[in-house]
Amino acid sequence: MNLWTSLMAVALVSLSLAGVAKAESMGTVLVTGANRGLGLEFVQQLQSKGYTVIGTARKPGQATQLKATGAQVEQLDVASQSSVDALAERLAGVSIDLLINNAGMAARGDSSLETVDYDAMERTFQVNSLGPLRVTQALFPNLQAGKKKTIVHITSRLGSIELSDGGMYSYRTSKTALNQINKIMSVELAPQGFTSIVMHPGWVQTDMGGAGATLTTSESIAGMLGVIDGLTIDDTGKFYNYNGEMLPW
Ligand SMILES: NC(=O)c1ccc[n+]([C@@H]2O[C@H](COP(=O)([O-])OP(=O)(O)OC[C@H]3O[C@@H](n4cnc5c(N)ncnc54)[C@H](OP(=O)(O)O)[C@@H]3O)[C@@H](O)[C@H]2O)c1
Repeated sequence: MNLWTSLMAVALVSLSLAGVAKAESMGTVLVTGANRGLGLEFVQQLQSKGYTVIGTARKPGQATQLKATGAQVEQLDVASQSSVDALAERLAGVSIDLLINNAGMAARGDSSLETVDYDAMERTFQVNSLGPLRVTQALFPNLQAGKKKTIVHITSRLGSIELSDGGMYSYRTSKTALNQINKIMSVELAPQGFTSIVMHPGWVQTDMGGAGATLTTSESIAGMLGVIDGLTIDDTGKFYNYNGEMLPW
């Protein structure tokens, strides 16, 4: 082999190594409620940062935009124990670095004593409070196998008791309960190296937030991913705004 062919060989090896390095994933993230709104934007921005993403949808057959991202799509109804168990079974042995419990719902029209609807309230708790707990519990072996050991629950500033100015009995209380679930989880899991936080996405233009909201999904998710990128174990248990500010309980 002369000098020229040796140099060519070295260049080719370097190029292919660079290709391998580029293709290497930043880690695996699972996002619930990923077929629309904030969840879908999470998937898109995480993918562009080089993460391998698993996005869940209640009806994967109808999750056209999620499927178009190329993410792995999995069926999940966070209010159904059998659906959560089935997901955990399908993902057995898969390491997950970051879990984003994003799926949520808001029951409307229950801002006065006369309009409180207990069925709607129970449903909201099933989805917003018990859902994230159920999913984290079922996927805990996957999270233990992951490197980053990070859990992010998407809450709302409407769950803050200190900031509350009334209204929305079911939604506010479901997010307050989620905040406490996160606190308990963070204390329990800190010795195992887990960082678990709650984060408010801001008021965002989605089906839930409405067209009059102040932030686009792109702005909200860029802010939240900036905060998530910088998390350390010292941040566990905290209540963050999407821009990194702390929110009062
Ligand atoms: N937008 C805001 O201004 C705002 C403010 C504060 C907090 N948040 C929180 O941010 C998160 C995302 O909200 P968003 O604005 O993106 O709302 P969205 O556009 O209404 O989307 C909600 C997502 O959650 C999914 N979901 C609802 N119930 C579910 C269940 N039982 N199991 C699995 N998935 C379920 C929906 O799936 P389907 O399509 O199947 O219904 C959808 O993918 C929620 O936790 C919400 O409370 C939003």
